This record gives sequence, structure tokens and C-alpha cells, in this order.
Amino acid sequence: MELSVNIDHIATLREARKERFPSPIHAAVEVELGGADGITVHLRSDQRHIKERDVELLKQVARTELTLEMAATSQMASIAKRIKPACITLVPEAPGEVTTQRGLVLLNQKEDLKSYISDLKKYGITVGLFINPDIEQIKEAARIGAQYIEINTNEYSLLHRSKIRDEIIRIARVAKAARREGIGVHAGHGLDYRNIQPLLSVMEITGYSIGFAIVARAVFVGLRQATQEMVQRIKGVR
Ligand code: PXP
Repeated sequence: MELSVNIDHIATLREARKERFPSPIHAAVEVELGGADGITVHLRSDQRHIKERDVELLKQVARTELTLEMAATSQMASIAKRIKPACITLVPEAPGEVTTQRGLVLLNQKEDLKSYISDLKKYGITVGLFINPDIEQIKEAARIGAQYIEINTNEYSLLHRSKIRDEIIRIARVAKAARREGIGVHAGHGLDYRNIQPLLSVMEITGYSIGFAIVARAVFVGLRQATQEMVQRIKGVR
């Protein structure tokens, strides 16, 4: 199981003061020294935290896999084709949202998305789709050429621990269906040091994308240690 750390909030802090620090590049180095398998950033259309230049520099500096989260727009496609991150996770983007609100609804935009994905793949990019744990969407994800899905764990993360059983079952069903279609399975959104634990029983999930909880902990213990602690949770290292 792999951990990709989302470092958007390092840029959020930088932009709060319109400063040049803290730098996402420095963050990427710390996260890698902490044992992460990848770096993730979301280049929003308004570039309110991560900027195009950050993605460019991260591509040059990161020694692990760089994942770019982005909306499926033509502006983003041209940036992606130029920078060529290892992976792209396509996400829906609503103007003014604080964070990604939901997964993609594949049934509404399938044909456009199919050619969009195949175009990105020509540049050697692995393309995934951020979707809610909705089994109906798996066949569609396979048909339009997704190489992995990232299951939106936002709803799961909001449930009290005593109420998570059904949601874990739902997530596991979706993960198994995706594997049967030959699609990789990641999960992310709202995951933290506690709620990650029960999810680890879903063996089909091979990658986690976690940001806020790690950056929030980093304020107190540093980014390297905060990453190490999550790596220990995920990989069971004592
Ligand atoms: N995955 C996706 C698609 C996201 O949009 C985000 C938030 O940027 C994350 C994972 C990470 O979520 P969190 O910051 O809550 O860990």
C-alpha cells in the first residue's frame, strides 16, 4: 500500500501571505524523506494555492511519483501535456468550493471524458478518476479507459466510528469490482491518522492520497515526522 501526500496546503499557507515560502518544493523533499511514495497536488483552475510553476518545479525535483489532480478542461490538458506528471487524477471542480465536494459523475459526460483520457495517455500519463463509492460507475470507468479510480472517502470520513461498517462494505465492493475490471484502486479525502485504520482491511486499495491531516500534524511535529507517522499507520511499520 502506497501513500501519496497532498501538499496543497503548504501552498495555501504561502498564499495566505502572498509570500515565497513555505515552498511546496521544500515540502516535497520533506515528505519524501518521511517515506512517502508520491507527491500529489491539485492545480485548480483559479490556481489559488498550487500554481502552474509549482507543478513544473515539482516535476523536476520530485524523486517519487507526481500526481496532478485537475478538472477535465482544455486549459488543464495543455498544462498536463507540457509538464507530463506521472499520474493525473481527474476531479470535478465547483467554483468557490473549499475542497473537492464529490466524485465525478461519469454517466453524464462519458464520451467527452473518453477522448480526454485517451489523449492524456498518449503522453505517457497514467489517468485515474475520482469517484464516489458507487458500483454503477465502475463499468463506465473501465469503458472510458480509466487506469485507476480514487474512491472518494469523504462520506466515510464524516461517519462516527460505530457507523462505518456499511460504508466500508460499500467501498470494498466498489474496490473489488474495479479490480475485476483491471482498474487500480486508490482512496482519499478526509482521511486521518485514526480513520485510515479500518480502511486498511480493504486489500484492493493499493494507494492512499492524504493531505490535510498530515499538513495539520506537521505544524506541531514537522512534515517529515507527520509523513513518517502516516507511513507507519499504512504500512504497519512499528
Ligand atoms: N483526493 C482528492 C481527489 C482531493 O481533492 C483531495 C483534497 O485536495 C484529497 C484526496 C486529499 O484530501 P485531504 O486533504 O482531506 O486528505
